Amino acid sequence: MAIQDDIKQLMEKREKARLGGGEKRIEAQHQKGKYTARERIEMLLDDGSFEEFDMFVSHRTVDFGLEKQVYLSDGVVTGYGTIDGRLVYVFSQDFTVFGGSLSEMYAQKICKVMDKAMKVGAPVIGINDSGGARIQEGVKSLGGYADIFQRNIMASGVIPQISAIFGPCAGGAVYSPALTDFTIMSKGTSYMFVTGPKVVKTVTNEIVTDEELGGASVHTSKSGVAHFAADNEEEGIQIIRKLLTYLPQNNMEDPPKTVCDDPIDRLDDSLNEIIPDNPNKPYDVKDVIFSIVDNSEFLEVQRHYAPNIVTGYAKFNGAPVGIVANQPNYLAGVLDINASRKAARFVRFCDAFNIPVVTLVDVPGFLPGTAQEYGGIIIHGAKLLFAYGEATVPKITIILRKAYGGAYDVMSSKHLRGDINYAWPGAEIAVMGPKGAIEVLHAREANAIENPEEKAQFLKQKEKEYKDKFANPYVAAKYGYIDDVIEPRNTRFRVIRALQMLATKKDVNPPKKHSNLPL
Ligand code: HXC
Repeated sequence: MAIQDDIKQLMEKREKARLGGGEKRIEAQHQKGKYTARERIEMLLDDGSFEEFDMFVSHRTVDFGLEKQVYLSDGVVTGYGTIDGRLVYVFSQDFTVFGGSLSEMYAQKICKVMDKAMKVGAPVIGINDSGGARIQEGVKSLGGYADIFQRNIMASGVIPQISAIFGPCAGGAVYSPALTDFTIMSKGTSYMFVTGPKVVKTVTNEIVTDEELGGASVHTSKSGVAHFAADNEEEGIQIIRKLLTYLPQNNMEDPPKTVCDDPIDRLDDSLNEIIPDNPNKPYDVKDVIFSIVDNSEFLEVQRHYAPNIVTGYAKFNGAPVGIVANQPNYLAGVLDINASRKAARFVRFCDAFNIPVVTLVDVPGFLPGTAQEYGGIIIHGAKLLFAYGEATVPKITIILRKAYGGAYDVMSSKHLRGDINYAWPGAEIAVMGPKGAIEVLHAREANAIENPEEKAQFLKQKEKEYKDKFANPYVAAKYGYIDDVIEPRNTRFRVIRALQMLATKKDVNPPKKHSNLPL
């Protein structure tokens, strides 16, 4: 009989824990169009796979009357489960308990799953919905945050870390997601900022709303803090599940391969026509991506931030790759500060997790001007250069059209240990475009010609000579900087072959404590 009572007590305690801050607060959460911490975990993980830790943890604070407000689980639900059968660790902040604010014990619960994830080698997914540090706990809460930050840092490059922001995430709390690899925000119901609108008004007199200051569209288009903006929580969770299909469990494993039903030698004749005759006319590089990858499936990362460079995941013959592509459709695909930072971070993630990088190049150079120079384009451009040069994963580069100046070097060139560098037949590889080059080389001679028609003719002739000599792939091919000039429609097959050939590639960097990345 005693055991029956014990079991009953256990069930009652579990039931109490599952209610979090109580039915009224759950109702309020739903009213805001948000799910509860446990509902989110249910949606995220495979059915019935969730195993919870620390359901009976509670805070131990006795100040501010907190001793009379004790909630089992203490505002965060933690544990492990599977996504498509693969192990993941999760924590999900419960806004119904003290506004999801972080206490000492709450932080310990998060640290526990992070420690387990590191020992086992599996991703951690954190779902954020919190009023920040639990005010009544003071420095214990601040310390708890830093304990998590330290673990985020140690886990960086070892296991994938993914943050979903489905509610408030303010103050120092923003730094845990910022230390993770991917941040997904729900539109209209989430925001992230270091200081909220009230403080902003006091300090700078600026009047802004939560949304304007740190909503999903701000962070996915202006700041680049977040990688995906989801229409709702369901979509946010689907993005996480999809993202994981491209990632290994940890840095010692390869990303998961799947069976591919898209023929590896599928030719696409439209690629032979995709580059416009006029070199200044744009086209959408995503059409090239969709055409060459398996089943046209491409998960774009940071779609709305620095759209002059495209980053994302796809598969070739079932094997995940990261794709980086200049986008001629936006600012002519120029490299600027934001594009360099975006692509550098992407390449470094791929390299840390053994994901080969395929780079599609059509770049007129770096964006000129005071705004870029004052903003430090030199140091930010160097980040991308560094990321490519440091990366030891298989690197395949295809120059589709332009590869001018420093941008030629930066975009995974042979000189930065590019493994396979191909060019399409119309590629232009040179120090600068024909017009600029002629301006530098022949200005004096041109100015000496008085007749305007003769002058124009002279310049045209010089431009033609320059183009014939340099603006083609064969000079680079002559020196072996380009391994082959390939027919555009056959690009998919050539990339797959190269990836297969490179599957066992090993490359190392010299031993060091760590590099001094130009931050
Ligand atoms: C304790 C908190 C809390 C907090 C909210 N609550 N934030 N309890 N510590 N930080 C409680 C409320 O008292 C309330 O309790 C419940 O959570 C819901 O809060 P509401 O204000 O009613 O909800 P809402 O109107 O939706 O507003 C949400 C909110 C607001 C915007 C998050 O609560 C808020 O501004 N909270 C304070 C945010 C903040 O400044 N945090 C510190 C940031 S600095 P009841 O009992 O009524 O349900 C920081 C430093 C971290 O975090 C440093 C790391 C290095």
